[in-house]
Amino acid sequence: GPLVEGLSDRLREVGVPSFGPHAEGARLEGSKEFAKQVMLDLGIPTAGVQHLTGDTDLDEAVDLWGAPWVVKRDVLAGGKGVLVTEDREEALDFIRNSIQTDGMVLLEEFLSGEEASMLVMMDESGFVTLPCSQDHKRVGEGDVGLNTGGMGAYAPAPVVTDLVRDRAILEIVEPMHKHLSSQEIPYRGCLYVGLMIDDQGSPSVVEYNVRFGDPETQVTVPLISSDLCDLLLAVAEGRLSDSMPT
Ligand code: AMP
Ligand code: GLY
Repeated sequence: GPLVEGLSDRLREVGVPSFGPHAEGARLEGSKEFAKQVMLDLGIPTAGVQHLTGDTDLDEAVDLWGAPWVVKRDVLAGGKGVLVTEDREEALDFIRNSIQTDGMVLLEEFLSGEEASMLVMMDESGFVTLPCSQDHKRVGEGDVGLNTGGMGAYAPAPVVTDLVRDRAILEIVEPMHKHLSSQEIPYRGCLYVGLMIDDQGSPSVVEYNVRFGDPETQVTVPLISSDLCDLLLAVAEGRLSDSMPT
């Protein structure tokens, strides 16, 4: 919230280094639609999306890809603005209610596979990927029930083999870093890349967050052998490449 409202912009204006992106960069988390557009523009693998409003033929929209339905409100909802369901009526209800409150809602193609979270610290001089973790979002034992903000996490995540990690860096992180570093105000902070890895080992992006993940941070930070404070300050001052951990 504070990043989307421009906290980092204002800190930097008064000369205080800030780890965390400026308002424009924070829109990657603040607006799922904006994030999707950036991914499409850069050719980053992600699920297809339909933008639904009061004028959309909803029956046609939900039948395009069929079940399961992934419906996303385009608001900052702490991981709770998303419904994944096999129940067509439940999907339609959530869609109608969201259009009523927000004016629009996104319907995404369902991606199957296993999820993993990749935290990337970056500034215009470089980036470093932290060990990947896995976050368990469904409320029930055995990954069932409603999505929550996160029930627990562990790292490293075995689903992210070296090969998967290399592909994620090549196809997702590098183009994003190049794009974010070429902006008038470059991105300085942590880019959280929520990945879906299919059974062929192909990664695609489920979501971006513009901060360390909760609860992923608790299992990732203890694996960093470098001084975390030095890293945070280096990113905030745009000199990460000079302090790259080995
Ligand atoms: P998000 O807030 O976009 O990360 O969505 C919350 C959760 O919903 C994700 O962590 C996934 O478990 C699930 N999810 C979101 N988008 C998709 C998708 N396109 N396909 C399958 N599951 C998804
Ligand atoms: N664990 C997901 C999040 O931090 O949004």
